Amino acid sequence: MNDKQAKFDDLVSLSKRRGIAFPSSDIYGGFQSTWDYGYLGTEMKRNIRDLWWKNVVQQRENVFGIEAAIITNPKVWESSGHVSNFTDPLVDCLNCNGRFRADHIVDNVCPQCDSKSNFTDERNFNLLFKTFVGPVEDNASVAYLRPETAQGMFVNFLNYQNTIRHKLPFGIAQIGKSFRNEITPGQFIFRTREFEQMEMEFFCRPEESVEFHEYWKNERYNWYIETLKIPKEKLRIRDHEKDELAHYSDATSDIEFDFPWGWGELEGIAHRGDFDLSAHSKGSGKKLNTLDVESNTHFVPHVIEPAVGVDRILFAILCSAYDVEDIANDETRALLRLPAAISPVHIAVLPLSKKENLISLAQSIATDLRKFFRVEYDETQSIGKRYRRQDEIGTPFCITVDFDSMDDHSVTIRDRDSMKQDRIQVSELVTYFNNHLEL
Ligand code: GAP
Repeated sequence: MNDKQAKFDDLVSLSKRRGIAFPSSDIYGGFQSTWDYGYLGTEMKRNIRDLWWKNVVQQRENVFGIEAAIITNPKVWESSGHVSNFTDPLVDCLNCNGRFRADHIVDNVCPQCDSKSNFTDERNFNLLFKTFVGPVEDNASVAYLRPETAQGMFVNFLNYQNTIRHKLPFGIAQIGKSFRNEITPGQFIFRTREFEQMEMEFFCRPEESVEFHEYWKNERYNWYIETLKIPKEKLRIRDHEKDELAHYSDATSDIEFDFPWGWGELEGIAHRGDFDLSAHSKGSGKKLNTLDVESNTHFVPHVIEPAVGVDRILFAILCSAYDVEDIANDETRALLRLPAAISPVHIAVLPLSKKENLISLAQSIATDLRKFFRVEYDETQSIGKRYRRQDEIGTPFCITVDFDSMDDHSVTIRDRDSMKQDRIQVSELVTYFNNHLEL
C-alpha cells in the first residue's frame, strides 16, 4: 500500500470515527457505497453550498436560482437524449462475474480477481434510475430520477425569460440531488449513486459563447483557490478530447483535483451549445428561443454550464486539509487544516477542570460566542485529548478556561495550525475572532 492510499484510508476512518460520514444503513452492513453525513459532514456540506450560492448567484446581478422537481415528465429525458445516450460501457469478468466500467479497466486486468484479458465484449449500460409513478407499474407509468439538475433549468427557460426581467446573458442555478445507477461507485464519497450537484446554465448569444466559456473556467478555477483555499498545485484544468465529450457537449474543460489515486474530475465546465434548448423545442413543440430586437429575428441561445458535486468538493477539501505531523516526544498529531469558512466548528470552549466556577464561566463564554460563530463546548477527557479531537475535526481555535481566568478575566487561545497560544481578555474575544477567522 502506498503512502497516499494509507493516508486516504486514515482519512476515511477519521471521517467515520468523528462524525463526518457513515456508511448508509450501517446497522444492516451498509448499502452499495451509499453514505449518510454525520453532524460535522452535514455542517461542512451546508458551508460549501452557501459559499457556492453566494459566489454564483447572490453576488451576481444576472444569475437566478431555481428549485426544480427531481421526478419530471419522462419526455424531458427522452428529448434531452438521456434515455438513449446516457450510458457507460460495461464489461463482465468471465472469471469472477464482476461487472466493471470498461474505461476503468487498466491493462486488461480485472480489478476484483486480477485475471487478465478475460472480459465479455463491451455493451452500453444506461445510468438512469427508473421508477413508477402512481399505483400501476407498467410502461406508461415509468419515470426517472434526474441524473443531472440541469434539465430543470432548460425546461424552465421560457418561464425564466418571462419572469426575471433580465435580457441575455443570464444564468439559472440550482443545488440539488441527482441519481445515477453507476456501474462502479466507490472511493468513499467520490462516486456514489445518489449525490448532490451545484449547476448553473448560463444562456448567452452564440457569438459570445466561447468567450463566456473561458470566463466561467477562470471564475470557477479561482473560486477553489481563493475561497476554498485549495492549493494551486492540487488543481489543474484539462480540456476533454473529442471522444470523451458527453452527448450534449461541444467542448468541456474539467477542473481536476489531485485525488489520492491521481488526477480526477472535480468540476466540469461544458459548452452545451444549443443542444438542450433545441432538443426541448423539438420535443415539446414550444419555441425555446430569444428575440434579437435589432434584427427582429429569433435565435436559440447557447449555454455554458459549470457543474460540480457538493460531495466531491467536500472530499477534495478533506484530502487537501488532512495532515499528520510530528510533534514533541516522537508523537504525531492528525489534523484537518480546514479554511474557517468550511470548518464545522470555529471555536471550541474547553474548561481545564470540571470545577463549578470554571464550568459556568466557560459555558457563558460559549453562549456569548455562539451568537457570532459556530461553537462547541466540551468538558470531557484530558485537555490534550480534547485538543487532538478538535485538531482532527478542523476547529481553527480552542479557548481554554483555567483557574487564573477567574481572577484575570482572560483565557488561553490555541491556534490549530501553529499550536501557538495567546492570552486574551474575555471582553476582547469577539473582536479577536472577527479579526482572525476568515468567514
Ligand atoms: N450537467 C452536467 C453534468 O452533470 P457531469 O460531469 O456528469 O456533468 C458534474 O457531473 C459534476 O457532478 C462532476 O464534475 C462531479 O463533481 C459530480 N458528479 C457526477 N457524477 C457523480 C457521482 N456519481 N458521484 C458524485 N459526484 C458526481
